[in-house]
This record gives sequence, C-alpha cells and structure tokens, in this order.
Amino acid sequence: SAFALAQGLPKLAQKKTYKVGFAQTESNNPWRLAQTKSMQDEAKKLGWQLVYTDAAGSAAKQVSDVDSMIAQRVDAIFLAPREEKPLAAAVKKARAAGIPVILLDRTVDPKLAKPGVDYVTFIGSDFVQEGQRAADWLAKKTNGKATIIELEGTTGSSPANDRKTGFDTYIKKFPGMKIVASQSGDFARDKGRQVMETLLQAHPDVTAVYAHNDEMALGAIAALEAAGKQPGKDVTVVSIDGEKDALQAIIDGKLGATVECNPRFGPKAYETLIRYARGDKIPAKIINPDRFFDANNAKASLSTSY
Ligand code: AHR
Repeated sequence: SAFALAQGLPKLAQKKTYKVGFAQTESNNPWRLAQTKSMQDEAKKLGWQLVYTDAAGSAAKQVSDVDSMIAQRVDAIFLAPREEKPLAAAVKKARAAGIPVILLDRTVDPKLAKPGVDYVTFIGSDFVQEGQRAADWLAKKTNGKATIIELEGTTGSSPANDRKTGFDTYIKKFPGMKIVASQSGDFARDKGRQVMETLLQAHPDVTAVYAHNDEMALGAIAALEAAGKQPGKDVTVVSIDGEKDALQAIIDGKLGATVECNPRFGPKAYETLIRYARGDKIPAKIINPDRFFDANNAKASLSTSY
C-alpha cells in the first residue's frame, strides 16, 4: 500500500554516477582528516560528485548541513553524526524527503531512529569492543592494579558512550582497578591536556590514563610531563584510534597501546550504496575490523597509519 511504501526506506535508482553528500562532524584531528580523504578519494575514483560539509564541531550546524543536502537533492547522504540525539531528526527528515541515509562511524540514538527503517545501515567500528580491548590490555599490563583517570570523548556521541561502557564494565572484574575521575576532553588534544592538568591536581596518585582517542591521550601525556611525571613509566596510558602520532608515542615509550579505529570508509561506503541500489539486502550494521598497536608492532605499522 502507499502507506507501507511511505514507511519504508527510500529507493535508489541504479545509475552510472551519483551525487552524494558526506556530512562530516569536524576536521580538528588526523582521524577526521583521514576519513574525509578516504570519502573524497573514492568518490573521485568512481567519478561521483561529492557534496562535502564540515559541521566544525556543532551538532546544530550538522543538522543544517543535512538540510542543505536535502535542498540540493543529493541521491544519498553519508552522515557521521556528531551526537546521538540531535542528528536523529536529520536522518528522519532525509528519509521523509526520499533520500537514503547511511550512517558512518557514529550512530544515532536507537530509540529515535532505526536501521532498515529510517536509515539504510550503520558502517563503523564496534566501540564497546574497542573499550573492552583497551581495558583488557591495561588489566594485563598492570596486573589488575591501577588508579585510572578516564578522558571521555564528545559528550552525547556514540563513541564516548560506548567506549566508556566497554571499558568501565570490563574493569569491574578487577577489584584493584578503579576509575578515580572521568571527564570529557571532547576528542581534542588541547582539551585533553587541559582536563588532565586539572584532574592531576586532584589525583596526583594516578597510575593509568584511559583516553577515548589518541589526540586526548597525547594531550594527557603532555600534561603528565609538565607535572614532572614520566608517561610510560609512572603512568600507563592507553587509547583508541591508531593515528601516526600515537604510534610514534608508543615507539617513544610514552603511550602503552592504542586500539585501532579504522577511518578509511570510502570503498565500503560507496560499495554499500551500490548494493543498496541493486536491491541487495543490507544488514543493519556493517562492522569494520580493527587492529591493535603496542610496542610489539608500532614501528612496523607506522607506514600504514595516518
Ligand atoms: O567516531 C570516531 C571518533 O571520532 C574517533 O575515535 C575520534 O578520534 C573522532 O573524532
């Protein structure tokens, strides 16, 4: 019925080239730049037109970026939603306008928008598992004894929520591991440094730092050094992403380990859209496999990093 059709995902015609939108969150770190480059390079390779927007760290701007893509009648929208709640409405608006949406790397609140209904699918890492892997490495490294400061990602974002859940739940198995402070550094290096400086004053006895991304870990390392501590010796630091600067910090003995979060979405993103247009059944989630870097492989992996 017309009603059922109106409820379903918008169809996408099979065409030689598409005009697609990529609504990026921000461009203030190497991970975001690598993701954008991958989306641009692959569009070029396919000969597709890419409408690119950068929300510059504002969920409100990202909502209006999606609006402008709808107004430009792009064939499909790839969205990296900065925060889980505010972007759910943008997803529904695109669907109502007949434009299929694929979520990249971050997701929206599952209570507000659903895969296979409001958007085609989510492509990205398993953030809960990333947090668990960081916790597992830290538990082994410290023999289950650590006084931990946690630097959280952007408040209200799926990676911050899930990386916290994964890590915090995992370390509950170890009575000797305890998080004494947990605060957002907004996934940014300088914010991570500032927050760490403040938290260090209240918790000078810290022995470990878990940062939700490498940029904040590198900021924390700078703060530790400024406070006269030796990261890698007095304080064990673990994080997530696997960017080049982080691998270098592992080689330098300052960062303990980083769980990879793969930013190279281009090929998988467009291939999924082509399959969708063909009428293939697309799963609700497409999970990227992630590597793991520590002192054993950081040097050998440096050239594969960004
Ligand atoms: O959503 C993925 C996270 O977003 C990356 O870990 C972080 O560096 C980025 O800003």
